Amino acid sequence: MKTNRKLVLAIATALGIGRERVMTMDRRKALATIAGSITAAGVAGAIVVKDVTASQLKDTPLIRPEIKLNKKGKVHHDPLPYVKLDPDAVADRAYKNKLIGDCMYGVFASLVEELAEQVGGPYMTYPTTVTRYGKGGVMGWGTTCGTVNGMAMAAYLVSPDPAPVIDEVINYFQYAELPDYKPKDAIMDITPSVSESTLCHVSVSEWCKASGHKAFSKERTQRCAHLAASMARKLVMALNEQQAGTFKAVFPIPAEVKACRACHDKGGELENTRGKMSCTACHDKHEV
Ligand code: HEC
Ligand code: HEC
Repeated sequence: MKTNRKLVLAIATALGIGRERVMTMDRRKALATIAGSITAAGVAGAIVVKDVTASQLKDTPLIRPEIKLNKKGKVHHDPLPYVKLDPDAVADRAYKNKLIGDCMYGVFASLVEELAEQVGGPYMTYPTTVTRYGKGGVMGWGTTCGTVNGMAMAAYLVSPDPAPVIDEVINYFQYAELPDYKPKDAIMDITPSVSESTLCHVSVSEWCKASGHKAFSKERTQRCAHLAASMARKLVMALNEQQAGTFKAVFPIPAEVKACRACHDKGGELENTRGKMSCTACHDKHEV
């Protein structure tokens, strides 16, 4: 019993298992005894490792930390610490990360890596490779653009109030001419385009139209890497501003979308839809 000794002893003490008893057991036995006691004590809602002799168990805790609920009975929002970052540094990282891990990873991993450098702690081990799933609008489905997905996940990881940041950056994605940042290691210039949609499919096809390049060209790969850089940069600027108390949306929900939502969204006369996307990207306006 060499690793995790402190933790094991702390839990054992809390459960009233004699320190000497634990000290004289080998690690597996100690863990098994403790887990057994926890189960017997019936700790409410706690998730405890069932089979502590299982070979996967190395230096992990025995009890999964309990989920805290807020006043509304929803999962308590518990962001990790954030410090002001250099938007260009994160953007340059995002460009390179996109090329090795695709779009969602490009944005998400860059923020985590930069924070690992500046803060350390939880960012040293926070898993980033899981975000590879976001590639091509989720495994090539062309749904939510991976840079949007990665941005929103990163905002949720670090911001105490992620919603306004996410709204701002998604609207920037929809309505700004992107990419609007040339990464340090860029190997070409990229024609910008406006997607007016959060979808990978629409964003890519609008860009193909604007640039004359194909969806599976090396130019498109580079374009999405520049896009990841632009999105990471915009996210960091918004997070920095929010932390400094100076955040103000530059890309609010347009009046036209607000008008549609007034009748069709929550509390509206029809209330038969939900969402903040640009409605006219798919629907025609109609007489009312
Ligand atoms: C003043 C309220 C109001 C506003 C504003 C409004 N709608 Fe509607 N919408 C209606 C009503 C009423 C209907 C008809 C429902 C029916 O006939 O069952 C309708 C029907 C629709 C339909 C389904 C039928 C169709 O015509 O295709 C769509 C889609 C739609 N609206 C989208 C929009 C969009 C997009 C906007 C904004 C550009 C918008 N609406 C603004 C009230 C509104
Ligand atoms: C990505 C494309 C897309 C976007 C963006 C979009 N819609 Fe739709 N919407 C659809 C599709 C597809 C349907 C289902 C097919 C249909 O009924 O036309 C639908 C259905 C609807 C309906 C029900 C239509 C009916 O016949 O009853 C309404 C109302 C509607 N959308 C309103 C909106 C509003 C308001 C927005 C903006 C906040 C919006 N939509 C954004 C694609 C879209």
